[in-house]
Amino acid sequence: MLENPTRGYAEQSEAKRYTITAALPYTNGPIHIGHLAGVYVPSDIYARYLRLQGNDVAFICGSDEHGVAISMKAKKEGITPQQVIDKYDGIIRQSFIDFGISFDNYSRTSYQIHHDTAQAFFKKLYENNDFIEEVTEQLYDAKADQFLADRFVTGTCPKCDNPEAYGDQCEKCGSTLNATDLIHPKSTITGETPILKSTKHWFLPLERYQDFLQKWILEDHAKDWKTNVLGQVKSWLDDGLKPRAVTRDLDWGIDVPVKGAEGKKLYVWFDAPIGYISATKEWAARVGKNWEDYWKSNDTKLVHFIGKDNIVFHCIIFPAMLKAEGTYILPDNVPANEFLNLEGNKLSTSKNWAVWLHEYLQDFPDKQDVLRYTLTANAPETKDNDFTWKDFQARNNNELAAIFGNFINRVVVLTNKYYNGIVPTPNEFTEIDEQTLAELKAYPAVISSSIERYRFREAQGELMNVARLGNKYLADEEPWKMVKENPERVKTQMYIALQIGAALRVLSEPFLPFTACKLSGILKTDLNLRWKDVSERTDLVPAGHQIGQAEILFAQIEDADIQKQIDKLEATKVANKAENKVIEPQKETATFEDFSKLDLRVGTILEAEKMPKANKLLVLKVDTGIDVRTIVSGIAEHFSPEEVVGKRVTVLVNLAPRALRSVESQGMILMTNNAEGKLVFVNPDADGVNNGALIS
Ligand code: MF3
Ligand code: ZN
Repeated sequence: MLENPTRGYAEQSEAKRYTITAALPYTNGPIHIGHLAGVYVPSDIYARYLRLQGNDVAFICGSDEHGVAISMKAKKEGITPQQVIDKYDGIIRQSFIDFGISFDNYSRTSYQIHHDTAQAFFKKLYENNDFIEEVTEQLYDAKADQFLADRFVTGTCPKCDNPEAYGDQCEKCGSTLNATDLIHPKSTITGETPILKSTKHWFLPLERYQDFLQKWILEDHAKDWKTNVLGQVKSWLDDGLKPRAVTRDLDWGIDVPVKGAEGKKLYVWFDAPIGYISATKEWAARVGKNWEDYWKSNDTKLVHFIGKDNIVFHCIIFPAMLKAEGTYILPDNVPANEFLNLEGNKLSTSKNWAVWLHEYLQDFPDKQDVLRYTLTANAPETKDNDFTWKDFQARNNNELAAIFGNFINRVVVLTNKYYNGIVPTPNEFTEIDEQTLAELKAYPAVISSSIERYRFREAQGELMNVARLGNKYLADEEPWKMVKENPERVKTQMYIALQIGAALRVLSEPFLPFTACKLSGILKTDLNLRWKDVSERTDLVPAGHQIGQAEILFAQIEDADIQKQIDKLEATKVANKAENKVIEPQKETATFEDFSKLDLRVGTILEAEKMPKANKLLVLKVDTGIDVRTIVSGIAEHFSPEEVVGKRVTVLVNLAPRALRSVESQGMILMTNNAEGKLVFVNPDADGVNNGALIS
């Protein structure tokens, strides 16, 4: 039903070549509105726009099917990794089709072509001596008889104190980690504390690219890359780049293709971005193009669309790989988005706090564009943003239906009523007509300018202004009042209104492809109309052309429909709360000696302030009865400094001091979660108990 985006748009002579990539989703679960808002809708808007401009576009994506996330899902569901990836590749692939994401190719990293491409890439770097080969001690789960890397291990983040950081990344502060950086590491397979065991791996010495990256990104792209991207890159470079392992001791993944690496696999973040290249190869072979034009030609513009958690991989590691290989182009831009929240809370697969695309479509089967529109209007382009169902309803009813749908409806109904649906021949244009047409013709450039700077919400706002222009024209001219006394004038008015309608058909296509398609059916516009025709032509629908009947473009969304969604989320909250009540199993036996090593005291918080540049940390001054000492506590997201001053608390006073950021923390304050999952102090009923009282 959707117009094939690559049909009808023959390349223009001034065509530019673009390779547009969208982050390959992990096939360990379905995708939700956060993925759509952050990566796939913006990249699709961009790709569709470029095609409408007559460019030569390869819009590339695929399933990311290696990595620990997949193995873990398989373990959890009691099926094989292959079954996991087949299941979710199918679901994800269908969601993209359903939402009109117009990939030229959606491939899979489990395909042979990808294994071959990734292995050849590794081999070339290996032969160039671009790797360091080293035996190091890595975390090892003796019970599971397995090395632990990435998501197989959690522990406390050394940068922000988040107790749930993964072996590759801390999702709280965004740091990229090595598993051995974690404090108190714990196996996610068995819950055991890992031991260290030696093993040989290959490392990409990122420090060799430090100067190059510094200049290429922070100098050459200081003006055109987004500040959130530059900020993360700068912080990495300021820390100093270090070698990063690109192989793993795992059983799911791509074999490391060199001698002495038997049983080892490529690190998923080494193979996955090469997936963009494999997917391009696969596509090029299918459509009879040369894939190298899209990856090795200096006049190709490469753009990576990603979420903010992928910045380091696309701005530092993958470019270093491409640079090492030597024959590839580098991205012209990496317009990473921040995150989308849902009704005020972080989207979370494990807490089922999400709007899953396949579920959305069951409830709103023909409202793909409404979701695309809402997500773009609230796009997390410069900061995290929130999706709410009330806003979704308002966007549909007050904007799409009231402005866009209403305009088209009036034009189509009146044209049918006055002229049996035949576009009338206009008479002389008045000054208002000329002005309106001039304004209309300026819009393609205005919208282009926003899109080319990756400001899609601004661009979509301008698209709606085209519909507003149409509504204003009709409201000012009132053809329905004039039709009796001056029918000749009304012909001109309707002709102009019809041109605005046809312009909307062209300009809305990147944003609202399903609506554009419907509109083509209603106005029966020429499918070859292109972006620039809107600014160059005044006969997008020519006089004498027969249009079709009116159809509702955006039906009202009722309160009951929205309440149903809100109730569903409430039910999720209740279910999560109930799950929180699950009592954690008892830990291993501690001897009396073990226990008596802990020195727990009653204390009082005297002062509190936020740790600069750390979202989670409060720096506390605590009277322990022994002394007044500094304790850094990861509670800043739950308590304001004012709230905690004066609190009586339980303090572990003989915990070995450690530095958090640059502050030395000399103890730990005991906390627990209440039934709602909120953090609370373990607060001795301390009336009449002095600070320093021993808890035993
Ligand atoms: N699968 C990764 C994620 O969801 C993204 C991979 S992007 C690629 O975070 F560059 F590696 F392909
Ligand atoms: Zn962290």
